[in-house]
Amino acid sequence: MHISDKIKNLAPYAFAEVNNLVAQLKDEGVDVIDFGVGDPLDPTPEFIRKALTPAADKHATSGYPSYIGMKSFREKCANWMQSRFQIELDPETEVTSHIGSKEAIFNFPEAIINPGDYVLCPSPGYPPYKQGTRFAEGVPYFYPLLPENDFFPDLDEIPEEIAQKAKIMWVCYPNSPSGKNATKEMYEKVYEFCQKHNIIMASDEPYSEIYFSDEPPISALSVGKKGVIVFNSLSKRSRMTGYRIGFACGDPEIIATFRKLKTNIDSGTPNFVQEAAIVALSDESHVEQARAEYAERLGIMQEALTSIGLPPNTTEGTFYIWQQVPENETSLSFAKKLLDPSIGVVVTPGELISDECEYRGQKINPGANFVRFALVPTLDQVQKAAERIKTLEL
Ligand SMILES: Cc1ncc(COP(=O)(O)O)c(C=O)c1O
Repeated sequence: MHISDKIKNLAPYAFAEVNNLVAQLKDEGVDVIDFGVGDPLDPTPEFIRKALTPAADKHATSGYPSYIGMKSFREKCANWMQSRFQIELDPETEVTSHIGSKEAIFNFPEAIINPGDYVLCPSPGYPPYKQGTRFAEGVPYFYPLLPENDFFPDLDEIPEEIAQKAKIMWVCYPNSPSGKNATKEMYEKVYEFCQKHNIIMASDEPYSEIYFSDEPPISALSVGKKGVIVFNSLSKRSRMTGYRIGFACGDPEIIATFRKLKTNIDSGTPNFVQEAAIVALSDESHVEQARAEYAERLGIMQEALTSIGLPPNTTEGTFYIWQQVPENETSLSFAKKLLDPSIGVVVTPGELISDECEYRGQKINPGANFVRFALVPTLDQVQKAAERIKTLEL
């Protein structure tokens, strides 16, 4: 069978080694607690699920949905962006629906770049930033997110010749996996850098509602609309990962280009799912409850991790802990240590979700000394994991 070079060149599945170990432990009867993959196990709130049935009746004739999202959905998104971030958006030209940020992010470079153009991607970062770039025949340039820079981009270290060839810069705050929230000053610097080099600032904000800071996170659109596109999603805010719905908003010229691309790729989110999303976006109490639940899990894990002498982590938002490992360990060795049958805790080794970067004349892997905990197990499981972690001797 003939297989495309793009598929052949895909790196082997990074988690294979950890997955094999996990499967082995389960076979041995170990009670494994999985903080590895970031897919929440909590149910979608009942009032959102209940909205589906009348919505299916309302849209009894199936028909293809609108490519750009129903007017009522786009209006709801614009209203929500206004009330949450005080950002004015025209639902006709500045908002478009998508079938989840993953697909939108993966496909976006196809609308913007030509072969050989650069895309600036954070490392560690969400894999579709780089894979979408590669499939569009662009070149990802990885900029590191490091604790000494508050996990913000160090713009002075991006070489001028790369900046000149770059067409998109991905940013993601609250940051997965470091959990850092953006500051306005940081967004302003990135915006200025992007404007200077005619780069689109593409901001992935799926965790904007999962935060533990006193002040809610801000959106990249708060520093400017020209040259900026924001991707947000109902997946994390309303625990709707399986529904496949979100929206992109910002600069009308970029939105128009993105709509043109998407019209050729997918046929939109089902109307009854959009109706459920409108119901979800009209309620904040379920989001407050989700935040409280994640905060409780975060507190339990933070206490356990610091009690064995690990440095405090930086989580202000998202449901991740980006934990620095002990000095005598690597991200892989520490992840394996947590898989000891007496602990049975699965985490993601940081080096597997980070790409090598050129930084200050050296090649570094920014995830080499970190493991990622996704706070998705139930409260009971989190408590059990914390007790077991406290028995670890470093
Ligand atoms: C950083 C980041 N961006 C985007 C997404 C995609 O979310 P969805 O495709 O469910 O909207 C995820 C999901 O895990 C994510 O972690």
